[in-house]
Amino acid sequence: MPKLISSPNSALSGTVCVPGDKSISHRALMLSALAVGRSEVRGLLEGEDVLSTATAMRAMGATINRLGDGHYEVYGVGVGGLSSPDDVIDMGNSGTSARLLMGLIATHDVTVTMTGDASLRSRPMSRVIDPLSEFGAEFSARHGRFLPLTIKGTPQPLRLDYSPPMASAQVKSAVLLAGLNTPGRTIVREKVATRDHSERMLQAMGADLRVSREDGVRVISIEGQPELSSITVDVPGDISSAAFLLAAASMVPGSDITVENVGLNPLRTGIIGGLTAMGADISIVRESTLGGEPVGTLKIKAAELNAATDLAVDPSTMIDEFPVLFCAAAVANGVSRFTGLEELRVKESDRLKVMATGLAANGVQVEELPDGLIIHGSGGKVPGGGSVNAHLDHRIAMSFSVLGQTAQAPITIDDASPIQTSFPGFTDLMTGLGAGLKA
Ligand code: S3P
Repeated sequence: MPKLISSPNSALSGTVCVPGDKSISHRALMLSALAVGRSEVRGLLEGEDVLSTATAMRAMGATINRLGDGHYEVYGVGVGGLSSPDDVIDMGNSGTSARLLMGLIATHDVTVTMTGDASLRSRPMSRVIDPLSEFGAEFSARHGRFLPLTIKGTPQPLRLDYSPPMASAQVKSAVLLAGLNTPGRTIVREKVATRDHSERMLQAMGADLRVSREDGVRVISIEGQPELSSITVDVPGDISSAAFLLAAASMVPGSDITVENVGLNPLRTGIIGGLTAMGADISIVRESTLGGEPVGTLKIKAAELNAATDLAVDPSTMIDEFPVLFCAAAVANGVSRFTGLEELRVKESDRLKVMATGLAANGVQVEELPDGLIIHGSGGKVPGGGSVNAHLDHRIAMSFSVLGQTAQAPITIDDASPIQTSFPGFTDLMTGLGAGLKA
């Protein structure tokens, strides 16, 4: 396990781009694999999670060729055209691959056995097994809800009208993708809106997908069995990866950095609002649209950060960025209280527990709540000097690599390898800006 040591450093400076958006990359491969004809994807995230999706789509019949860095061509099999893979498909660390693919498989006449790494095998799959079973798919899962599992898709799916009990773009997308090969209109009703990349891309490919509001509920409906047109997708930089740079530059005194080509989908930008509410100096310069998604260049200068006491982070606009926001709270002035975050317990790790343990090991006073954290900010450098077990969670590893930059003593992260799942080149990019990271 390659360790990562993050040492205190002076100001960060420079201009960088972050790798392509993970959510959009997964969807670009899955949907173009179901289209008719040749699609092209540029700027694809070549992280392990997305490569797991590519391997699975190839195993189910799509042709996916790498033409250059992040540049792929995909020949789709058409909606309804997936075939059973010859072997077990391994989704590695990727919950998005596992859950969205289960949606596709559920309404195809195929049988697939799926597994993943220790982190993914511990994550609940009942949230997708339940609605997908209603379409008629059959599941045989370890303890009824964990990978490995076998899913037998149904050749005669029944349409569904579903209200997910939790805010989850993965659950929503799994149901919409199952609806793609189901006669009639499948409906998802979201109490809390979640990232809408699936909806945007399906519409761009000609699906009859409609979005409306009914009594504050976001209602998405899709007419099944369309012919999806091939597409060219230009994937913007991932704001969830840019979040580490936004936080680091805000926290390390004297920093001044620019991050270009960041996806600014309004359902993803909560981290900008959250850090700004704490006093961060973040400006959006040059906004445009790329592949149906808003993008922009972000300029971040160090600022004195205050506690996130009255911080109203809209849960529909931020989820994966909380670990690094907790690190910002650890160096801020005052006590931050974060609640309503029980979903963080079922991510790549239990992010409330793992963050609380790692922060405490580095001298931060922290209280763990059932649904959040209370963090006593140090009003400057945290003591540091501790070790962190990242529990195979890329975002935990990167968050503590940010915190170490503003600590009095280096922070050691047990295993840097999970960073490859979403942010290949992270250590080099950070050190290029002046960070004191050593693998
Ligand atoms: C994702 C949705 C989110 C997010 C994950 C990617 C997606 O998960 O945490 O990293 O691409 O749909 P949930 O749906 O579990 O909130």
